[in-house]
Amino acid sequence: MSNSEHGRARAKGRTTAEVLGADRVESPPPLLEERYEFLGDEDISIDRYISRDFFEREIKTLWPRVWQWACREEHLQAVGDTYVYDVGPYSVIVVRSGEDSIEAFLNTCTHRGTRILATEGSGFSPAFTCPFHGWCWNLDGSIKNIPARWDFPHVDDDKHGLQRVQCEIWGGFVFINMDPDAAPLADQLDVLPEHFSHSPLERRRIAVHVEKRLPANWKAAQEAFMEAYHNIETHFSPNGANAQYDIFGRFVTRFIHNIGSYSPDALEDYGPSAAPWLDPPLTEDQQLRTMGLGKFDDENIPDGETARRIAAEALRKSVGARLGIDLSDCSDSLMVDSIEYHLFPNMFFFPGISIPMVYRFRPAGDDVDSSLFDLLILEPLPEGATHPEPPEPVRLDVEQSYTEVEALGWLGNVYDQDTGNLRAQQQGFKASRKPGITLGNYQEVRIRRLHMTIDEVMNED
Ligand code: FES
Ligand SMILES: [Fe+2]
Repeated sequence: MSNSEHGRARAKGRTTAEVLGADRVESPPPLLEERYEFLGDEDISIDRYISRDFFEREIKTLWPRVWQWACREEHLQAVGDTYVYDVGPYSVIVVRSGEDSIEAFLNTCTHRGTRILATEGSGFSPAFTCPFHGWCWNLDGSIKNIPARWDFPHVDDDKHGLQRVQCEIWGGFVFINMDPDAAPLADQLDVLPEHFSHSPLERRRIAVHVEKRLPANWKAAQEAFMEAYHNIETHFSPNGANAQYDIFGRFVTRFIHNIGSYSPDALEDYGPSAAPWLDPPLTEDQQLRTMGLGKFDDENIPDGETARRIAAEALRKSVGARLGIDLSDCSDSLMVDSIEYHLFPNMFFFPGISIPMVYRFRPAGDDVDSSLFDLLILEPLPEGATHPEPPEPVRLDVEQSYTEVEALGWLGNVYDQDTGNLRAQQQGFKASRKPGITLGNYQEVRIRRLHMTIDEVMNED
């Protein structure tokens, strides 16, 4: 195969575009776009996942320069509500400082550097007080009180306010950037505001929030969610063999992975015994019963109909009734598919209704080999409803199972399967003589894009 053809090959069978094209309720235009480009096929160095040197470069030159979602706006409903966001060694306080203002500061004292708010997550403070000597700041970061002020004639109040962090909001998410000279959030969001105009995330509420510690570097952890190539081996699921992968620029990538509409042809290429449970291929009726999005006990599939269309229609009614919203114009794809956007460096947003997650992956403290994975389910809010108080995150340690979180239902097993591979991968990295990982040109292109952008950001002057 000549080099110019690399990246052109695709799985056999129906493409995602063909599946969406046959839907009853048509998808909004962004979902019909296709934007792949071949980005090379060199191996990616394993050192990037295991070396302290690379980790420290990320800490110095990646995390302090990029926009990251810290919390949801609904975490900050009353003046004085705070949210502490930790990433690696850094800690940022986000606060509702006034009815119409949200501000962010480094969580460190301007006297002798002590961390001010101890714990990550939600809180409330009428003012910020350092636990060491009691220096105190107003919610806008200005000095409120310095105990024994007589001893600090050299301290200029204006220079000893809390250290400000840039803060912007999109889709109900509060983003922070520790670089005072950072370009606006809009540059990093790229196509997201346009693509999510049909699925406004600000009109959603946190139904479930789970934060789990994972035994893998933050990049390996999130890369397990950037491709559907693992679906047969890890999830015993044929869905995803024909997933579509898109690169919208340096910061935003996507996959669309059809649920309840697999192509038996695509599975031929997985090898003769890869999926014995799919021989003979599943009927439309079997696909409907096993797609995981509902029971569909009352649904039958008339001749010429598909599991996907029947499921989408049934879900429009049942989910619409449960949530109190009208989903009659919501496309089949938004009703059933796994549509996943990645925003550099560590966030995933899903516009779908039945698969409505957001993810965030970040280094856990100083440890190269572990990470924190926030998993949120965002449910659409009925028209006119205000956001309820968000739930406290359920915190799971490395050994705990997602199935302990009842609200995740059938997804608990899926996330256990996804995260179960990670310890083995992090261990395998260290046992390898081969210095790099190898990526598929199409199905794993988002992982390559992630690494290219990491290098670009870290090498900026
Ligand atoms: S270190 Fe914070 S008040 Fe002294
Ligand atoms: Fe998975």
